[in-house]
Amino acid sequence: MPSERLDKLLASTGRWSRSEVKRLVREGRVEANGHIAASAEKKYDAHEVRLLVDGEAVRLCKFVYIMLNKPAGVLSATEDGKGKTVLELLPEEYSRRGLFPVGRLDKDTEGLLLLTDDGQLAHALLSPKRHVDKVYLAVVEGEPDEADRAAFARGMELGDGLKCLPAELEIVSAGARSEVKVTLREGKFHQVKRMLAARGKPVVYLKRLSMGPLGLDASLAPGQWRELTAPELSALAGQMKPK
Ligand code: URA
Repeated sequence: MPSERLDKLLASTGRWSRSEVKRLVREGRVEANGHIAASAEKKYDAHEVRLLVDGEAVRLCKFVYIMLNKPAGVLSATEDGKGKTVLELLPEEYSRRGLFPVGRLDKDTEGLLLLTDDGQLAHALLSPKRHVDKVYLAVVEGEPDEADRAAFARGMELGDGLKCLPAELEIVSAGARSEVKVTLREGKFHQVKRMLAARGKPVVYLKRLSMGPLGLDASLAPGQWRELTAPELSALAGQMKPK
């Protein structure tokens, strides 16, 4: 990481805005390399500098976080001889950094996929103990009803013996083909498709809308991506707190 201004370095953590950093510096609450920082504009090497705010060490953002609207037809794997992977949708510098997708979406599923090189965050989001909510929009054949909603809420057991945690099924529109929102607190293989198929409502289209506090940016068309914003990073940082 090249040298960066102190306000930019601290704001990159998502904990303070640049104007809040300026105020902290004015109030003498920021220490850089053992000295009270005199200016928020002074540049430091992000790899070397030791920063404290109110006496507490600050971990700088040394990781990259990308939100991708995964298009159908692309694999959420880092490499695969059998087809195009999500990493091929990003500039090469990102794959060189060792970015990987946080969890998997099926090849034909679209929507929110987070890519990062931060293993600790990936672990926190995927850990089965944390039950991070994942919300999907599905188009299904047939008309889901109250009995389907209740079965999801009770926690379904699938044909192969897989016991699912209680989940939410919200009926968005009903007809010969219907739209539903499904909220899961776990992520088993093909889970949304298997749960809906078990209720006789096969999925014809699936898109992930959110994962924990992170919602898919509606302005991203399938295949488009952007880095996470500071508020999104702070929301994810909350997810890292020990449970
Ligand atoms: N559930 C599925 O069935 N497929 C996905 O891609 C994600 C969740």
